[in-house]
Amino acid sequence: MATSTIHTVAIIGAGQMGGGIAQVAAACGFKTLVCDASSAALGRCRDGHTKRLAREVEKGRMKENDVQAALSRLHYVESLEMLKGADIVIEAVVEDSRVKRELFAKLATLFPTQILASNTSSISITEICAAVGPQGHPERVVGMHFFNPVPVMKLVEVIRGLQTNADTVQKVTQLASALGKTPIPANDRAGFVSNRVLMPLINEAFYAWMEGVAEPQHIDEIMKLGCNFPMGPLRLADFIGLDTCVHIMNVLADGLGSDRYRPCPLLRQLVAAGRLGDKTGKGVYDYAPQATSSPGHTSSMTTSKAAVGA
Ligand code: 3HC
Repeated sequence: MATSTIHTVAIIGAGQMGGGIAQVAAACGFKTLVCDASSAALGRCRDGHTKRLAREVEKGRMKENDVQAALSRLHYVESLEMLKGADIVIEAVVEDSRVKRELFAKLATLFPTQILASNTSSISITEICAAVGPQGHPERVVGMHFFNPVPVMKLVEVIRGLQTNADTVQKVTQLASALGKTPIPANDRAGFVSNRVLMPLINEAFYAWMEGVAEPQHIDEIMKLGCNFPMGPLRLADFIGLDTCVHIMNVLADGLGSDRYRPCPLLRQLVAAGRLGDKTGKGVYDYAPQATSSPGHTSSMTTSKAAVGA
C-alpha cells in the first residue's frame, strides 16, 4: 500500500539487498523500479523475484494473482535517467564511500526534490548528505538500513544525518511501516546500532577460531544452542560477506578511534584469499556441492560445508 507521499520506489543496485528491497516494495503495492548498470545482475534479480514470489504461493503466504500483480509492478532498468517519476530513491550499491558519494552527487541533479535514502550498513549518512552539496538539499538524504534476507528480516534502522530533517525521517519511517517492517531510529555514529554491536561479536568469533578456542562449527553450534542465534556468528559472516565484515570493522575502528575494532587477522586473510563467503562459494565454510573437506581443514561439518583450517 502506497503512503500518502510515496507511490513509486526506485532502487539502485540489483544485488542481494537491492533485490530484496524491491521484492518487498512490489509485494506491498508500490510501483518499483530496479536500476543496475549490469544487465546480467538485472536478469538474476528478475529471476530471483519470480522464483521467490512463486515460493510465497507454494507456502500459502500469497495468492497467485497477488504475485502476478507484484511482478507487474516491478520494472528493471539500466540507467538512472529511467528512474524518473520515482518518489524516493533507495541506494543499495557496493559499500564503498567514494562510489556512494559520487552516486548521490548525480542523484541530487536528477532528482531535485525526492527523498534520497542509502541502505549503507556503516558509512556516515552525514558524509552522504554532504555529497549532494548545499544546493542539493541535504536535508532529504537519510539512511534506511535493511537486513538480509530483506523479505524475512523485520527491521529497518532509520539513520538521521546531521543535515537530515524531521520530515524526511517521518516519511521514510512511514514507508518502512508500509513495507511491513519495524522502523527504529539510530543516530549517525559508526556502525549505527546494529553493526556496532553485531560486528565485534562476529570479529571475536574469528579470534576464538584463530586462537584455537574451538573449531568453527563448534563456535557456531555453541552460539546457536547456547544463545538461540538462528545462525552461528561464523556462518552469519559468510552470509553477510567476509569483505563486508572487514569493511564494517574498519569503519568502526576509524570512526570510534579504537584498535579493539580492528578486523581479526584471520578474517582479513580469508578475504585476501578471495574467500568472501556465500557469494564466492567459499568463506569460513565451503559451499561447493560435493565439498566435505579442503586443504588445511581442521574438520568437516555434517553438511556439505567444510571449515578451513586457521
Ligand atoms: N531471501 C529471501 N528469503 C529467504 C532467504 C533469502 N536469501 N533465505 C531464507 N529465506 C526465507 C525463506 O522464505 C524461508 O522460508 P520458506 O522455506 O518457508 O520459504 C525462510 O527464510 C527460512 O529459511 P530456511 O528454512 O532455508 O533456513 P532458516 O530457517 O535457517 O532461516 C534465515 C534462514 C532466515 C536466514 C535465518 O537463518 C536467520 O534469520 N539468520 C540470521 C540472519 C541475520 O542475522 N541477518 C542479519 C544480517 S546483518 C545485516 O543484514 C546487516 C548488514 O549491514 C551486515
